[in-house]
Order: sequence, then structure tokens, then C-alpha cells
Amino acid sequence: MGMVGGGPGAFIGPVHRMAAELDGRIQLVAGAFSSSPEKSRAAGASYRIDLTRAYASYEEMFAREKQRPDPIDFVVIATPNSTHLPIAKAALAAGFPVVSDKPATATYAEVLELEKVVSSAGLPYALTHTYAGYALVRDARSICAAGELGSIRKVAVEYLQGWLSQPLEATGQKQAGWRVDPAISGPGGCIGDIGTHAFHLTEYITGLNVTALHATLRSVVPGRRVDDDCTALLKLSNGAEGILMASQIAAGEGNGMRIRIYGENASLHWQQETPNTLTIRRNTGPDETRHAGMHYLKPDAVAVTRLPGGHPEGYLEAFAVLYREFADWLEAWREDREDTPPATLPGIRAGVRGMRFIERAIESHNTGHWVDF
Ligand code: NAI
Repeated sequence: MGMVGGGPGAFIGPVHRMAAELDGRIQLVAGAFSSSPEKSRAAGASYRIDLTRAYASYEEMFAREKQRPDPIDFVVIATPNSTHLPIAKAALAAGFPVVSDKPATATYAEVLELEKVVSSAGLPYALTHTYAGYALVRDARSICAAGELGSIRKVAVEYLQGWLSQPLEATGQKQAGWRVDPAISGPGGCIGDIGTHAFHLTEYITGLNVTALHATLRSVVPGRRVDDDCTALLKLSNGAEGILMASQIAAGEGNGMRIRIYGENASLHWQQETPNTLTIRRNTGPDETRHAGMHYLKPDAVAVTRLPGGHPEGYLEAFAVLYREFADWLEAWREDREDTPPATLPGIRAGVRGMRFIERAIESHNTGHWVDF
């Protein structure tokens, strides 16, 4: 794996490295870890890679790796949003499959361009919507697909964080700085950064599409040029309705992602900060709590479980599930066995849906109306 991003002090690059290497299938061997050559080299040293493969830029990495007898097999993009499109295009043009962090691009127009590039390149492309990798999210998805809740009537999904409650960007904090700059984050702030995860999880677990929405976006902290708090009403393809809340000014919240799905017979309840339990609730009997690692889970959940019940898995393991599926796909693709991604692994379609969600939410907010999806 060759990484773009993940330089000194970065958040998600080191997470990608740990997760990718967890199952012993992938190794970080090269990178353009920063747009500063010195910082890229410093990061390469901290990752203990051969420093001749710690490059000054991603362009140099792609050009030099292509010349090697043992080049990287794929590229991971862990940089701020506005760089995703140019890096993905350059990687695909150089013949390297891509794992990109979300959102796929900074704007909807960009993702439509990327979709064409991915399709014409014919190379694997995956998008790390991390929460899709949790075993109990896979369990919930299988329960919905089997119709065990009955027809789904309502979804309540929320992703609440508190870390941007104050103008952290004014202190020079790196992650806050680019997230509130529309030139780098794209026109969506919170709605793009974490709203897209909540949106993805809704469609991923229910198997339904959002067909219309009505959103309000606010910039609560004075001077912010992008939203930091969002609420959206959703209509789903089977007639169900939903409410999506995403906020980064919810003081006291850490990474409070939670989803509740109500069907005609029962409801499902899962939250990211306690990811090893999934609760099914019914009017007709006591609640059922399903625990990660147990044999009774659905096969799709068991397939992504590494440890027996009682041994908690979490964020890194969920990320690693996506990498394991990508590695499987990459091997199959290289052996001409498989062109299409596994249904469980988010790819370019999820990228297009996510960017459409941001674009539609902004349109709805600006017009004050419901908008079709
Ligand atoms: P960050 O600011 O902590 O790190 C970004 C890194 O990219 C820095 O090391 C920076 O030097 C490097 N960089 C910027 N431009 C570059 C270039 N042209 N070439 C090489 N390196 C370059 O940002 P963070 O929080 O790690 O986010 C990065 C991406 O990951 C964002 O798109 C974000 O939305 C996404 N993300 C996804 C998460 C998930 O749950 N899947 C969680 C956190 C972030």
C-alpha cells in the first residue's frame, strides 16, 4: 500500500495504516505523507518504511513506483476532501487501484467526474465508510434484508460530536482548520464530514434509498463559513420516513453515532460508542440483546468477526474489515475472477450517493423546500 496523507499529526492516516495491516494481508511500503517533502520523510521514518519510498509528492510516488519491479499494489487517500479527486485521478491514470477516505470528493460535480474516471479505468475503488465494517452493523443489515422487522416505517439516525462547539479553528488546530474552510472541505461542513456517514449507514443497513429530503443547516459558531449543525427529514424508497441529525456543536458528545430502525414488528438499536451490542425491541416480548462474537449472529456478521464473544472489537477492527474485503477483491480482480466490488464494501456508488446527499441538503436548506433525491 502507498499512502497519500497521514503526515505528522494527521488523524486518519495512521488509523488506515493500523487497520490495513491488522490481518497481515497488506503492508504500508510507500507514501507521499504530506505536501511538505521534509514532513513526508519524517512520517516515512515514523512508519519505519524504506525512506527511498517516502516521496515528496503523490505525482512522484506514482511515477517512481511504476518504474519499480515491486511497485505498490494500490493507493490509499487520507488527505483533506478537496485533494481527493486530483489524487484519485492521478492514481487511476497511473494504473493503481484506490482506497479513498470519505467524502469521495469535495463537490457533487467532482464525484460525477470521478465516477466516469473509475468506470473507464476499470480499476478497484473503495470508500472507507468505516461504520459499514462493524459486525453488528452487518448483523443489522442482514436482519433488515431478511424482513425480520417487517416493513420498515421509520429511521432515526444521529451523528453528534461536540469538538467544534468552540472556534477551535482559531487556535490553529489542524483538523478543525480545513474542515471549516469551504475551499478545502467543500460546501458542506458537518453535513459532509459526518452527515454523510449517517446517510450512508441509513441506506446501508435498511437496503432502502433516500428519495427526498428536507434539511436545515446552521453555522452556530459565529464566523463559520460552513454548517456545523444539521437536521434533515428523509423519505425512503418504501414510503418510510426518517430523521437525520448531524452536529459538531453538540457539547459533551464524542463520536455519538446512533441508529434506530422501526419496522412493523420490531425495532433495531445500535450505537457506535457501544458497538458490540445490537438490541431488537418488540411490543410482544422482552428486548433481545445480540452480542458481537456470538455464534447466533447472521453469517455476514460472523464472517467479519475476529474474536470470540466477550472480547470487544472496535473502530480499528471495523476499518480493517473494509481493508480485508478490499484485499479479497483486489486479489480476485488481479486473477480476472471479479470485476465488481463485494456488495458489503462501499465503493464509487456510495461516493456518488454521499455527495448527492450533501448537494441536495444544501439545495433544500437554501430553498426551504423538500427536494427530490
Ligand atoms: P488531517 O488534517 O489530520 O490529515 C491530512 C493529512 O494529509 C496531513 O498529514 C496533510 O499533511 C496531508 N496532505 C494534505 N495535502 C496533501 C497532499 N497534496 N499530498 C500529501 N499529503 C497531503 O485530516 P484527517 O482528519 O486525517 O482527514 C483526512 C480525510 O479523512 C478527510 O477527507 C476526512 O473526511 C477523512 N476522515 C474519515 C474518517 C472516517 O471515519 N472514515 C475519520 C476522519 C477523517
